[in-house]
Amino acid sequence: MTAITRRDLLASGVALSASSLLAQSKLFRDMAPSGKELLVDSHPADIAIAPREQLLFDFGWKFMFGNGIDPSKDLEFGFGQSDFSKTGDFKFAKAGFDDSAWRKLDLPHDWAVELPFVHDDAGSGDAQLRSHGYKPLGRRYPETSVGWYRRAFEIPGRDLGRRIWIEFDGAFRDVMVFVNGCFIGRNNNGYAPFRFDLTDFLAYGAINYVVLRVDASFGDGWFYEGAGIYRHVWLTKTDPVHLGRWETTVRSTVNRNAAALALSTLVQNNSKQTASSRVRWKIVDPRGATVGSAESPRQAIPAAASSGYNASIRLSDPMLWSADEPNLYRAIATVEVDGTVRDAERVNFGIRTAVFDADKGFFLNGKPLKIQGTCNHQDHAGVGAALPDALQGFRLSVLQSMGCNAVRTSHNMPAPEWVEACDRMGMMMMCETRTSNSNAEGLDQLTMMVKRYRNSPSIIIWSIGNEENSLQGGMAEQGAKIAGTMVQLCHELDPTRPVTSAVNGDNEKGVSEPLDVTGFNYHEEFPDAFHKKHPGRPVFGSETASDVSTRGEYVTDPKRNLVSCFDGEVPWHKSPENWWKFYSAREWTAGGFAWTGFDYRGEPSPYGWPSISSQFGIVDTCGFPKDYFFYYRAWWRKDSSLHLFPHWNWHGREGDEIPVWVYSNMDEVELFVNGKSIGSQKVPHLGHLEWKVRYEPGSIEARGSKNGKIILSEKRETSGPAVSIRLTADRVEINADGEDVAIVRAEALDREGRPVPTADTMVEFTMSGPGTIIGVGNGDPNCQESDKEPKRSLFNGLAQVIVQSTKTSGEIQVEAGTGRGQGPRWPRAKLVIPSKQVASRPSVPVIQQ
Ligand code: GAL
Repeated sequence: MTAITRRDLLASGVALSASSLLAQSKLFRDMAPSGKELLVDSHPADIAIAPREQLLFDFGWKFMFGNGIDPSKDLEFGFGQSDFSKTGDFKFAKAGFDDSAWRKLDLPHDWAVELPFVHDDAGSGDAQLRSHGYKPLGRRYPETSVGWYRRAFEIPGRDLGRRIWIEFDGAFRDVMVFVNGCFIGRNNNGYAPFRFDLTDFLAYGAINYVVLRVDASFGDGWFYEGAGIYRHVWLTKTDPVHLGRWETTVRSTVNRNAAALALSTLVQNNSKQTASSRVRWKIVDPRGATVGSAESPRQAIPAAASSGYNASIRLSDPMLWSADEPNLYRAIATVEVDGTVRDAERVNFGIRTAVFDADKGFFLNGKPLKIQGTCNHQDHAGVGAALPDALQGFRLSVLQSMGCNAVRTSHNMPAPEWVEACDRMGMMMMCETRTSNSNAEGLDQLTMMVKRYRNSPSIIIWSIGNEENSLQGGMAEQGAKIAGTMVQLCHELDPTRPVTSAVNGDNEKGVSEPLDVTGFNYHEEFPDAFHKKHPGRPVFGSETASDVSTRGEYVTDPKRNLVSCFDGEVPWHKSPENWWKFYSAREWTAGGFAWTGFDYRGEPSPYGWPSISSQFGIVDTCGFPKDYFFYYRAWWRKDSSLHLFPHWNWHGREGDEIPVWVYSNMDEVELFVNGKSIGSQKVPHLGHLEWKVRYEPGSIEARGSKNGKIILSEKRETSGPAVSIRLTADRVEINADGEDVAIVRAEALDREGRPVPTADTMVEFTMSGPGTIIGVGNGDPNCQESDKEPKRSLFNGLAQVIVQSTKTSGEIQVEAGTGRGQGPRWPRAKLVIPSKQVASRPSVPVIQQ
């Protein structure tokens, strides 16, 4: 048997007892060499190097709801015509404004996830509230669609003369920013980052005020998008002579045992005189050793101008970036003027080659590799769109544990921490922009995406959009031109990566024309014909499957919005077996991306109300695996695997025939019912095994063998009623930085300590010590309980609690028990999560008001 890893445990449903923290530590030590996901070291703040300061601006905000139609409930904003008539008159962004009744909170914050669900099926198509998960957002819900954020902050006198920006990684959606009474600017999309230069507006050596009006009335998608400042905010301070934002690039060319690095950046001179500046470069390898340095010659940059700088460095025997060894190098660029360092930044990059070939599929570092991908939206149970950074790594580790090697950021520019986690953990990425348009806004978003992430080794391809059916059909001529402009822009900004779009059609016209790599969404009738007609054009499955199932359910019941986990339950889907057999049998395809890795809020398919999330996921909204997970795991990973389902709790169905399935990559599997063999079957390549068993309580067991030797076995036992809860965390300790989280799993057990796969008891959580519960979930697509209250009913035996540290170290204690009026009380389960003292990343001090 191969060594067990934390990923395996997370995914297989094997849980660790609350008291076995020691065992957990051992587990973590065992996987330390490859357990790179445990390192959380690539925050943007780390990238800033003195004298630049990049301060996290997340803590200590105040919030209140405004109103989309009634100015009297919206700080009188827009009462008449004159709001923007003068500069400096916005009183709510000045001292003396009373925000004492506003709620205190820290960012990232998604107010949509806090709202109640509303049953409203008015309208049609994507405009319906169901698309967004039945949260009351939109122009018909003015009371809950506008939010105001306010924060006082101090700018020290010594900052006078520096350039100071407020930077947003993303907010949903229409944002207006005011500082010290002045209107600063606006942003009109939900996913791309934006920033404003505050240098002229700040009071130095004084308290300053920033206010945002965030309006989530308009949406970008047909899926849950959240509302508010749901990504990080930064306050960045530099010298007037500084590196351009996202201008530093490292491009590598690999030749046998060497890599040539082409380094490039831009220096901006915002001072009042010419600056004679040079740039020094240093390359640090994944072990921390400096392995190269260079200097770009001095140039005189006139005031208010900028200049490009280049250099090259040759590395011998580079450590390549790959899925198994995600080696990350660092390039440090330092700007000097008259011998003084004025600005510096660190850029993470990887050395690797990634090629899409029309005959042979995809190659990473010269070796063929099928893309075993999943598409994912960005929300998670309990927190909606406002994910703590550590949750990104958790989500990726769930996907990696089933052998997924690539993610598609459908259908928008991802959060930086998702990309950084992919770089760090060896997950490839198809990075997609939201607005598939060559208008100014579309090109602006695309520019930001490509510039922001072009050094990330995980990104193997850019995507300029998804299913622009008009641009593919009636407007195909315009579609080809729009896509052509977007592709050209990607090439200009990043000549190293190909460009695609996810197309739901035959790819013969429109958007498809200028693409480097052809992406097919579904429609497996098209790729063969396309390949024959265009043998020189590489092909992959940009979106496949769309397979629905409800975790832990084995009977489809449209009345209860449940879909069985046995394959083939809905006619329109392409099951895992179906699409994967197609792509894996064709050497010329690069593989593909299943829709979706995680269930997501909104687009509640295949049913509407009371469903509030989709059921497309291979894992649910918490990351608990459904049975399909184990199909992929059997055929996407090389190590032995075997999964037996369904559970064996069929009280009331004694004597009925129950289907029993196995997903496995063994040669042969034998099934035992109550200890007696009912036959052995050879495992079909890329298929599954099926038996029919008359139900009687007891057990079923599958034993899998390879080369005649039993390698793995799995048993399902009829459990007794649930009598206790087991709590386990994904981490042995977390950082006391006010940001880190532990993902806690609550699981029902019977008297003998066996999981109870049908338990639905309401579990109440309490906390003590330096931590807070920031969200709860259970993966049930039909559950409308609050994501924020510290209680949750189990769904088919499981629930999840997300526990966040404070900045105080100590032991966080989570307790779980059943509530009053639920029959006999279960003993309270306890879990201790040590939160260790760490240097928090630099942040803007909170002013107590
Ligand atoms: C696709 C679309 C996805 C999702 C999916 C559901 O056509 O690209 O965003 O809507 O269908 O099956």
